[in-house]
Amino acid sequence: MWLIDSSIGRKVIMSVTGLFLVLFLIFHMSMNVVAIFSSETYNDICNFLGANWYALAGTMVLAAGVVLHIVFAFLLSYRNYKARPIGYSTQKNQKEVEGASQNMLVLGIIVLMGLCMHLIHFWAKMQLQEIIGATPEYEGQFTNGAELIRITFSNPYVCLAYIGWFIAIWFHLTHGIWSAFQSTGLNNKVWFPRLKMCANIFSTIIVLGFTAVVIAGYIHS
Ligand code: HEM
Repeated sequence: MWLIDSSIGRKVIMSVTGLFLVLFLIFHMSMNVVAIFSSETYNDICNFLGANWYALAGTMVLAAGVVLHIVFAFLLSYRNYKARPIGYSTQKNQKEVEGASQNMLVLGIIVLMGLCMHLIHFWAKMQLQEIIGATPEYEGQFTNGAELIRITFSNPYVCLAYIGWFIAIWFHLTHGIWSAFQSTGLNNKVWFPRLKMCANIFSTIIVLGFTAVVIAGYIHS
């Protein structure tokens, strides 16, 4: 199949799933920033999403996007590794491209590890509890997301771990958006630096939004 067999096809899948995950991040950051201003409104949003059929369908589509993005990242890195030129014929440009995609894989693995930590902190105590039926020790927690934010970020080490995770996300996002532009051929001299700047500004806004939630959670804990 062309999408899987060709290098461009694999990059298209990486870019499309990456864009989808970026859309989720915009939504997720905006939603969480609400917690800084109003616990009630934040909890209303959490309860509206909860474990309703549309939230569960969203979670499954999201999980499929994450899995596809990861599987193709490994596939792309493996094929690039197999196709690398051997010995002194390796050009500087080629080395830079290889280095960038290796960095993306390492950053991606860090982002994934942070995501596991995050899902254990929040998703496992909220949506999952609702799906399986709340156990007594979690009772009340999945309906009070704002309180869970304060409890989680009352620990300064957890705050630092999250901020480290956000930094990895910043690098992964800026490089990812940059390489998606390059795969689509949008790499001319005038537009490329502008798009790169937009990617940097966009990633910074996303990461600062999440960081503000962590700091507000710590201060109000
Ligand atoms: C301060 C930062 C963040 C806070 C306070 C936060 C909060 C939450 C909460 C409360 C949930 C559970 C929602 C529910 O189960 O009803 C959740 C789920 C989730 N979060 Fe975050 N989040 C943050 C950052 C992030 C980041 C940076 C990412 C991705 C890189 C992320 C990805 C996810 C995913 C994939 C889920 C599961 C989504 C689902 O249930 O459909 N979160 N988050």
